[in-house]
Amino acid sequence: MNNKKQVKTDLIKMENFLEYNKKIKEGEDTFKKLMFIYSMAIKELETKLEIFKSEFKFLYNYELIDYINTRIKNPKSIIKKMELKGYDLTYKEMIEHINDIAGIRIVCLLKKDIFSIRDLIQKIPGINILKQKDYITHPKKSGYSSYHLIVEVPVTLSQNIIYVKTEIQIRTVAMDFWANLEHKMKYKPEGDIDKKDSKEWINCAKMINKIDNKMMLLNR
Ligand code: GTP
Ligand code: MG
Repeated sequence: MNNKKQVKTDLIKMENFLEYNKKIKEGEDTFKKLMFIYSMAIKELETKLEIFKSEFKFLYNYELIDYINTRIKNPKSIIKKMELKGYDLTYKEMIEHINDIAGIRIVCLLKKDIFSIRDLIQKIPGINILKQKDYITHPKKSGYSSYHLIVEVPVTLSQNIIYVKTEIQIRTVAMDFWANLEHKMKYKPEGDIDKKDSKEWINCAKMINKIDNKMMLLNR
């Protein structure tokens, strides 16, 4: 006798979630639901990354990943970004255009590890890579250096599998230190720094890049 239950699972893209949601239940708190799904995407991906971290530590005695940070973009930042980019303030536009509502940052010790982590992510079954930006090989004008991926993570719920966009940033501890401080000062529009300071930040980023390269040589 075959005891296997046939479970019908709908495969849907986040973009189609609103239409789908209308069909299943009208009038529920859509924003809360959407944020729940984004947070499940983070959970899904974070677990996979934590497994890589433990695997490398346990099996190879190697610290591939130092730490992982996650965050859900807060409603104020979502609205600010949508206004800045000229999108209509609708959930549809939000889902389509705001790629970093779910965000994961992977911090490692050595620059070369960034590419190993990138390769591991690319091999995770079911994850679609939508976009990649290599600010390691080509840092931004600001000096900012990190590897960015926008991926689609399948979140398996009881009735459906939803593909959810998530932004992954991979950088070294040193790059993270720079980016966190610089972000507070400059990247947020309310923080203004003059041209001279701006040059100093770029110089610091260059120094950090040199340190990262030197650390790699010392760790050979
Ligand atoms: P947004 O900047 O998010 O609108 O998207 P984008 O398409 O320009 O993406 P990009 O990959 O350039 O940046 C995405 C994220 O990287 C930002 O939200 C920041 O968290 C971070 N980032 C990018 N540039 C800088 C920078 O110059 N300084 C710092 N500290 N962070 C940066
Ligand atoms: Mg962002």
